[in-house]
Amino acid sequence: MEQKRYAVAVDGPSGAGKSTLAKAVARELHIMYVDTGAIYRVIGVAAQRRGIDPKDEAAVMAMLPELDIGIKHGADGLQRMSLNGEDVTDAIRLPEISMYASAVSALPPVRAYLLETQRKFAREQSVIMDGRDIGTVVLPDAEVKIFLTASSAVRAKRRCLELEQRGTPKPYDEVLAEIEQRDYNDSHRAIAPLRQAEDAALVDTSELDFEQSKALLLKTIRESVNA
Ligand code: DC
Repeated sequence: MEQKRYAVAVDGPSGAGKSTLAKAVARELHIMYVDTGAIYRVIGVAAQRRGIDPKDEAAVMAMLPELDIGIKHGADGLQRMSLNGEDVTDAIRLPEISMYASAVSALPPVRAYLLETQRKFAREQSVIMDGRDIGTVVLPDAEVKIFLTASSAVRAKRRCLELEQRGTPKPYDEVLAEIEQRDYNDSHRAIAPLRQAEDAALVDTSELDFEQSKALLLKTIRESVNA
């Protein structure tokens, strides 16, 4: 029997492993992976480069029509982002962009602007989409909803390792403080705050390694859809 199109929404705080896990799950299930944080990050990069205060709603809104945000999925399934024709896939990962992305993502018009872009992916094919409000706002009818989390200490440790591997190490205390600040921003903003959807399965990876987390995610998905 052919599998019907379905959507998997993965939400959770930064550093919980959403993107790494969702990418691996997408590969296994042969569905598309959409990293929605990357889209907010492109707007963050644009604000930073223009010297715009990312909390200044009027200035950010005035900038939006000038932005041509491109999302392309390569044959390897990886999501490449472009800004007015320039590939910014690497630039959006610079540590200073995280706070810009978090700030612009708190602006209601920015969220409204990106809503349709995100929904379109799920109309066209089966997807696993990660973000903060996918199960609550973007895809409230998703067949599977997962709230992926881990303690802030574990997330900070993982982020430190990642930064070290990228050659941009940072002290643990600084990383932890940033993660906690971003958690606060993302879950206390007035619009679409980070929260677990009522019908989402809670997956805490504090005590799990990558393979265990991936197996748990796949099991959760397969229990809900015939994937
Ligand atoms: O997942 P990330 O760290 O790349 O996301 C960057 C910022 O964008 C993060 O601080 C929260 C915000 N974001 C959001 O508000 N809604 C989403 N669906 C995805 C990300």
